[in-house]
Amino acid sequence: MESAIKVPPTIIVIFGATGDLTWRKLIPAIYNLHIDKWTPDNFLVLGIGRKDLTDAQFNKHLHEGVDKFSRRGKAKKKDWDAFAKCVNYHKGEVTDIATYEYVARQIKLLEKKWGGPVNRVLYMAVPPQYFEQIAVKIGKVGLAKDKKLSRVVIEKPFGHDLESSKHLNNLLHNMFDESQIYRIDHYLGKETVQNILAFRFANALFEPIWNRNYIDNVQITVSEQLGVENRGNYYETAGALRDMIQNHILQLLCLIAMEPPVSFNADEVRNRKVDVLNALRKFKLEEVHKFAVRGQYGEGWIEGKKVKGYRQEPDVNKKSTKETFAAIKFYIDNWRWQGVPFYLRTGKRMNETISAITIQFSPVPHQSFPSEATGNWQPNRLVMNIQPHMGIRLRFQAKRPGLEMLLSPVDMLFDYAESYTSGTPEAYETLLLDIMQGDSTLFMRADQVEAAWDILMPIIKAWENSPSVNFPNYAAGMQGPEDAEALIAKDGHNWIVMPPDNEE
Ligand code: BG6
Repeated sequence: MESAIKVPPTIIVIFGATGDLTWRKLIPAIYNLHIDKWTPDNFLVLGIGRKDLTDAQFNKHLHEGVDKFSRRGKAKKKDWDAFAKCVNYHKGEVTDIATYEYVARQIKLLEKKWGGPVNRVLYMAVPPQYFEQIAVKIGKVGLAKDKKLSRVVIEKPFGHDLESSKHLNNLLHNMFDESQIYRIDHYLGKETVQNILAFRFANALFEPIWNRNYIDNVQITVSEQLGVENRGNYYETAGALRDMIQNHILQLLCLIAMEPPVSFNADEVRNRKVDVLNALRKFKLEEVHKFAVRGQYGEGWIEGKKVKGYRQEPDVNKKSTKETFAAIKFYIDNWRWQGVPFYLRTGKRMNETISAITIQFSPVPHQSFPSEATGNWQPNRLVMNIQPHMGIRLRFQAKRPGLEMLLSPVDMLFDYAESYTSGTPEAYETLLLDIMQGDSTLFMRADQVEAAWDILMPIIKAWENSPSVNFPNYAAGMQGPEDAEALIAKDGHNWIVMPPDNEE
C-alpha cells in the first residue's frame, strides 16, 4: 500500500545502536518498513554506538537480529542487501560532543547529496541516565534547530516519579518544542490497541451504552509468563507499577474511558486521554491498601519447567521488596463513569501470557424468563484481546436449540487471524512511521506522563514507606497473590479471562 503522507528524505540517528532495543525491535521494524516501501528513496539509518565496529560488522549483527525477530522471519538476500545499503555505523560516545558534530556533518553531506532539507529522527535507544546529556548535546550542536524537520525520540522509563518526570520535561522543553518530542509507549502502536478507538468511535452501536448506566465494571489484565530475565538491575529500580501500570496499562484505561474526540488530531486525542487521567480518583496514603495489592513471585513451575523466584534472578537483591505484580482498583470521577470500578492487574511469571480488556455489562433490569430457563445466565460481556490472541469477543444469551426454553451464553467472535490475511505490523513499525511522518497522536505528551505519575505517587510512596513483609507471596506460574482475588471478590466480582477461541 502506498503511504498517504509521503515521508521526505530522512535520516534516523540511533543513539545506542549496539543495544538490545535496536537489535530486537528498531532495526527489524525499519527493515519491514523498507520492504513495504514506506521509507523514502533518500533514506539513511546512522547507528551510533560505543563498540568498535565496521559498517560490515554492524550490518552482520543487525542481519542476525532481523533473521531472529522480524515478523517476516529470515530476511531474503535481495531485501537485506537493499536495506543494508541504507545503514551506516559510527563509533562514538554519547557523552562526547564530537559525536554530535559528526552527525551534524553527515546531515550536511546528505543535504548536498539529496539536494534539499533532510528530515531528522534522533532516537535515544539508551538507558534513561543518558537522556539528559544526549538532549543537551543535540541542543548544543543545533541538530534539532529546525522544529519542523527534527524530532527526538525517547524510550521509557520517562522519569522515575512525578518530580523526575517534570525535571526531564522542563529540560527537554528548554531545547525542543513539545511537538518535536516523541515519548514512546509501545503499547499505543499495537494494532489491537489502536483498534480500541476504531471500535468505540467508528460504530454507533456501543457508544450509547458505554457508561455507568450499562457497564458494571471494567478489567484490564496484562500478565506475562516471562520473569525479569536479564533485566534485574533495571527492574529493581522499577517494579510492576512503574514498569507497566504508569505507562501501558493507564494508557489502555484512557482509551477505554475517554470521551469521543472531535477529530483525530493528535492534540485532540491526547486532550481527551489526559481528561481521564485527571478524573482518576487519587488515593490518600492511608487508604492505598484498600485499593492496591502487590506481589512478588517465588520459585514455581511454568509449563512444566521449574523456574527461579524473583529474589534468585540475576542482579536482584536476595531480600528485594520490589513488586513483580500489582493490582489496583480505580474510580473515574466524572459523569460517564461515576461508581464503575476499573480493575487493573499485571504481573510477571503468571500462569499465562495474555493482555485483555473486559467490559462487564450490568445484568438485565428485569428477568422475564422463568428461573428454570436461566440457570446458566450471565450478563453481557465484551472482551478485547490485545495479545497474543488478537480479537474481540461479545458474549450474549441465546436460546438453546430444543423444545424447552433454556438460555445459555454464546460468544460472537472477531478474530484478526480469520478476518485478515495481510500480516500485522509490529508496534514499532507503526510508531517509527508516525515519527517519520510527524504524527504524534500515538505518543505521550508531557502532561500525560506527569498526570500518570501523579495518580500513582500515593501508591509508590505507601509501598516504599512500608515494604512488604510477606514476599514472595505467589509462586511462579500462578495467577498472582491471593490478595488480588480478595481485592475484586469483596466487590462481588472475579477476574475474568475468556478463552481465546471458541472452545468453551
Ligand atoms: C515493557 C516492559 O515496557 O513491556 C517489560 O518493560 C514488559 O517488562 C514489556 O515485558 C511487555 O511488552 P509486550 O509488548 O511484550 O506486551
